[in-house]
Amino acid sequence: MPKPATKYFPEGNYTELDLVTLSYVSDAAEEFGILSLMQMVDKASRRNKALNVTGVLSFDNGRFGQILEGKPKDVEAVWELILKDPRHTNVVSLGMKKINARRFANWSMRLCGREEIVAAEPQLKI
Ligand SMILES: Cc1cc2nc3c(=O)[nH]c(=O)nc-3n(C[C@H](O)[C@H](O)[C@H](O)COP(=O)(O)O)c2cc1C
Repeated sequence: MPKPATKYFPEGNYTELDLVTLSYVSDAAEEFGILSLMQMVDKASRRNKALNVTGVLSFDNGRFGQILEGKPKDVEAVWELILKDPRHTNVVSLGMKKINARRFANWSMRLCGREEIVAAEPQLKI
């Protein structure tokens, strides 16, 4: 039996053979201008690319929505940074879920509209 690959979501018994998605919503803790948003996405997408994590991020009315996908331990490494980031608060996730294929395979992190995130993850309370 391979040992679980995640610290935050051990109940899923994920292994490195799995592909998972993790989505959440949060509230911006400060004013986000377009420039700081672009800088954050730029930095995030570089790190995601290095980790082979893909996904989308929406920002609407002071609220973030994000979908991450990748190998459990890589998604979790990004998740840890996201949880620690003081620029947002009230971070609520839908947990980690196994997927068969990536939905945003071509994007290490793409800014998208709220509607797109809601369409992809209807349970997210954006
Ligand atoms: C809403 C939100 C989404 C983020 N998404 C990602 C992400 O997908 N990947 C990532 O590496 N960092 C992401 N971050 C940024 C990291 O949290 C940030 O790079 C980390 O805190 C380290 O920042 P520093 O290198 O400037 O200290 C996100 C931050 C916020 C507030």
